[in-house]
Amino acid sequence: MRRNCWLVACALLCCHMASFTQQPATRKASEGAVDERVSALLRKMTVAEKIGQLNQLDYPTHASDDRVRSGEIGAYLNLTDPVEINRVQRIAIEESRMHIPLLLGFDVINGYRTLFPISLAQAASWDPALVERVHAVIAEETSAVGLNWTFAPMLDIARDPRWGRIVEGSGEDPYLASAMATAKVRGLQGRELGTPGRILACMKHFAGYGSPVGGRDYDSVYLPEVQLQNVYLPPFHAAVEAGVGSVMSAYMALNDVPASGNTHLLRDVLRDEWGFRGFVVSDSWAIHTMKNEGYAKDFAQAGELALKAGENMDMGSETYFNYLPADFAAGDVSMRELDDAVRPVLRTKVVLGLFDHPYVNVSKTEAVLTNPSHRLLARRAAAETAVLLRNEDHTLPIAKSIRSIAVIGSLADDPAALMGSWPGKGVKKETVTVLAGIRERAGASVQVAYEPGVMLKREPQTELNSDVMGNNCTTADPVIEKAVAASMKADLTVLVMGEDASMNGEYGSRASIDLPGRQLELMQRVAKTGKPIVLVLVNGRPLNITWASTHFSSILEVWQPGTEGGHAVADLLFGDANPGGKLPVTWPRSTGQIPIYYAHNATKVNQESPDFKSFYWDEPTTPLYPFGYGLSYTTFKVHDLQLSETRIVGDGSLEANAIVENTGSVGGDDVVQLYIHQRAGSAVRPVRELKGFERVRLMPGESKTVRFRIGRKQLQFWSPATRAWGVEPGEFDVWVGDDSRASLRGSFVVTASSKSASLQAQESGTQHE
Ligand code: BGC
Repeated sequence: MRRNCWLVACALLCCHMASFTQQPATRKASEGAVDERVSALLRKMTVAEKIGQLNQLDYPTHASDDRVRSGEIGAYLNLTDPVEINRVQRIAIEESRMHIPLLLGFDVINGYRTLFPISLAQAASWDPALVERVHAVIAEETSAVGLNWTFAPMLDIARDPRWGRIVEGSGEDPYLASAMATAKVRGLQGRELGTPGRILACMKHFAGYGSPVGGRDYDSVYLPEVQLQNVYLPPFHAAVEAGVGSVMSAYMALNDVPASGNTHLLRDVLRDEWGFRGFVVSDSWAIHTMKNEGYAKDFAQAGELALKAGENMDMGSETYFNYLPADFAAGDVSMRELDDAVRPVLRTKVVLGLFDHPYVNVSKTEAVLTNPSHRLLARRAAAETAVLLRNEDHTLPIAKSIRSIAVIGSLADDPAALMGSWPGKGVKKETVTVLAGIRERAGASVQVAYEPGVMLKREPQTELNSDVMGNNCTTADPVIEKAVAASMKADLTVLVMGEDASMNGEYGSRASIDLPGRQLELMQRVAKTGKPIVLVLVNGRPLNITWASTHFSSILEVWQPGTEGGHAVADLLFGDANPGGKLPVTWPRSTGQIPIYYAHNATKVNQESPDFKSFYWDEPTTPLYPFGYGLSYTTFKVHDLQLSETRIVGDGSLEANAIVENTGSVGGDDVVQLYIHQRAGSAVRPVRELKGFERVRLMPGESKTVRFRIGRKQLQFWSPATRAWGVEPGEFDVWVGDDSRASLRGSFVVTASSKSASLQAQESGTQHE
C-alpha cells in the first residue's frame, strides 16, 4: 500500500472539509417575518400572478422574457448559463410588477461539473459524512452558476434491479437510505435553507416510484400501507426531518391514484403527519398526464385535482397556467386554495434569500467549478464506494512483479460510462477513464495493452438481432480473438464489463439483468487463457455475474464512479487505496430471483437462523452476494458483542457494542452493521433489519469498540393491526457483524411500559422519533 499518498490525500481533504463547517452566518429571517412578507406579497398579487408562481417551464424550449416580465413564470428548469441566469433573474426582479425572483432548478444528481460516483455507489460507501461533503461540493458548484434548486436527492427504495433508476437511489434498505437522505439534504442545503453556497434540495419521487410492476419505468405501483410505511416512506420522512425544502411527486399511480393527484401522500402524510412546510413540484408534465392515465377526464380537471391534492408547482405542462384561471372564475378553485398553493413557493424564495441576493458573481464561477479539491474528493469518494466482491489468491492488489497488463472492454475507454445517466455539466474530456487511470499509475515499467473487445449498444433483444446481442453467437469473431491474444500476452488481464450510461437510469429498465451484448461470450473466451483475471464492473445495477463469480479470481465493483473514476480504480487495483464499500443491495444470481432482499419475512419453515427459506427447485434461494457484503485487502474480526441491558421498558433504550479488529497486514475500512429482529408481535417482522452501522478505518492490529444505541427509533414499526407506529413488547434478537449474515448474536426483552408505546404513538399522532 502506498500509504503516504493516501494520507496526503486525506489531509488535503480534511483542510478542504474544514471550509464546509465555517459557513458565514446565514440570512435567515424569523419565521414570523417570513410569513408576514409572503402575506404582504399575496395581498398585492393578481390571480394571474399567483398562478404564474406555480408555473415552471423548460429553458430554452419555453423561455420567454415577456412572460417572465408579466409574472407568468415562477421557475425555470435547465437554464445553466450564469450570464443568462443573471439576465433573466434581473427581468424577474427589476421588470416584473411584483419583483419576485425565479427559482432555477437543474438535475444535479451526482455532480454538476465534478461528477461523483452515482447515488447507488454513494450508498455503498456506508459513510454519511462523506456523502454530506460530496453534496456540499455539489451545492457549491451548482450555486456558483446561479442555480438555486436541484431535483435531488432521489429517495426511492428499489428492490428490483430491472428498474433502471435503481442507480439514482440508495438501494433496498430504509435505514441505510434514510441515513443517506439526511446526509444529502444537509449537504445540499447546509445547516438551514438559505445557507450561502448551498441550494434548495428536492426529495423525489414521492412516493413508491421504485416499485413499478415488472421493474418497468413508469408502470403502476401497488404497495400496501404496511410496506409503504415501513419500507418506502422512511427515507422521505428522514429528509423532511432534516429540513428538505421541496418535494417532487412521482409520475406513476400509487394504488391506482396518480402521485400528482394523491391527497393521501401530499396532504395526509406529507403535511398533516410530517408537518412539511415547503412546496411540492410535479414530475415533468405529470399533472397533464393524469388525463392519459385515465384519472382526469380532461386537462382542466387534471389541474384542479392536482391543486386540491396539494401539488404546488406544475413542472413543464402549463396545465395550471392554461386551466386554473377558468377553474377559479367558475368557483371550482377558491382564492384560499390558490393562496395555499402559492404561499410555500413564495416562502421558499424568501427563506432562500433570493429577494435580497438574487444574482451570481459570474467572475467566480469557473474557479469554483474547477476547484482541484473537488476532484480530490471525487477520487476519494470513488475509491470509498467500490466494493470488492471476490479476491482469490490475493490477485489484488496488483503484484509489483507484474510487467504487463491487458485491459479489455470498451467501457475501459468510455468516459461517458463513468459519468452516469445524469451527467450534469460534467465534461467527457475531463473524465479520467479506467484505461487512462491504469496507464498513468502503471508508468513506464509496466506495459499496458488495450482491446475494446465487443462493443456495447443499447438496443432491444429480438430474434433478428440476437446474434448481435451475442447470446446465440458461436462463430469466431476478430474482436474477440484480438482480446484473447492480448490477454495471452499479458501477466494480468483487467476485464472491464458492465453497462454504458444509456443502459440504466430513466427509461433504462431491462427485462433481464444479464450482461448486455456479447460480454459473457468475451469473458468466457478470455477465461480460457488460464491467466489471472480481474473483473472490474462499471454499472448502475446488480448484473448477472454468476458465471464470472466462480471463474475469475477477483471482482471489483466500481459502479459509475464519476470524473475521477479512472484514478480511483487504479488506486484500488494497485493497492494505493483499499476497498471498503459494502453492497447497498442484495445481489441476485439471476433475473428470476428478483425481487430478492435480505429483510424478508420468515416462512412456515421453523428456523433458528434467519436465512432465505422460501424455495425454487431450479435455483438456490440465497443471493449471489448478500446485502452489506464487501471484502478488503485486509481482514477484520468483529467480536465480543455486549448488551448494556437484557430488559428494557418500551420507551427505554440499550447499548450494543462490539469490537472490530484489523487482523490483516494493511490498513483498511470495515463497516460494522447491527441488525435486529422482533420474534413475535401484532405483525410478522422481517428476519432481520439493519438498525445501525459505522464505517471504521483501522491500521493492522488496531481495534475499536463500536457502539450502537437501540431505542425507540430502532424498535418501532408500523403495524397493520394498530395502523400506527409503535414499539411492541417482546423478545428481540440482535446481530452484529460486517454484512447481513452477521453471526455475533444477542437478545433482549422489551417489556410493556405503563402505557404501551404503540398506544402513545397513536394518541400523540406521531410516527417517528
Ligand atoms: C424525472 C425527474 C427529473 C425531471 C426533470 C423527469 O423525467 O423523472 O427525476 O427531475 O424529469 O428533469
